[in-house]
Amino acid sequence: MQVDLAFSPYELEKKDLQDKTVVVIDALRATSTMIVAFENGCSAFIPVATVEEAKKLAAWRNDPQLLLGGERRALPVEGFQLGNSPRDYRPEKVKGKVVVMTTTNGTRALLAAGKAKEVFIGAFLNLSALCRRLREAGREVLIACSGEKDLFCLEDVVCGGAIVSLMEKDGLAVLKSDSALAAKILYEYFAEDIYGMLAACEWGQYLERMGLGKDVRICAQIDSSKLVPIYREGKVYLDR
Ligand code: MLT
Repeated sequence: MQVDLAFSPYELEKKDLQDKTVVVIDALRATSTMIVAFENGCSAFIPVATVEEAKKLAAWRNDPQLLLGGERRALPVEGFQLGNSPRDYRPEKVKGKVVVMTTTNGTRALLAAGKAKEVFIGAFLNLSALCRRLREAGREVLIACSGEKDLFCLEDVVCGGAIVSLMEKDGLAVLKSDSALAAKILYEYFAEDIYGMLAACEWGQYLERMGLGKDVRICAQIDSSKLVPIYREGKVYLDR
């Protein structure tokens, strides 16, 4: 099975996604937050590129089941009911709801992945379940790191490397691109202390400074979920 990795949405936009399974990763925090939200009964996410688009969509739909969620510079957007902290997505807030979401990088990566045959949501939280889905799909895999404004983010690449490593551990013959090999090596370097890596990376330190350090601990909970949300026809949801 061929596995490639794009370090940012900018790189992803240069890749041929046809017939591939894409895994979108925003370990701190968007894809981790989505997985927590689905664990808490959220019905779906609609990723959009801008705050204006999110507000227009919510106004047009005028649906009490529709919430606005997301961030800019990690802080909740004015007028949104939810930020991008997994702690915002409690059952009493999100059960049965659809969230129109916009974040700085994670939703951008999702939108860039739209042309792929299949798109999965990945994070440290659902690593093993995700790798099972990838093996079942049996297609070429492209791991899409969200990065930070199209720049390299250690946490997403280490998470991507964990996927490569896990798939190889299961005895799968994985044909790695240079970026997938580099990610695997980075994962193996940090594997013993994923939380420590998340706390030490640039965005993890920024979250800590913003008083959001508890989110880093939540995003480090490896395999705390068996859910693998998919992104299809403009929506993120659970297909099984
Ligand atoms: C992103 O999409 O850039 C991140 O999820 C930002 C954040 O931590 O809220």
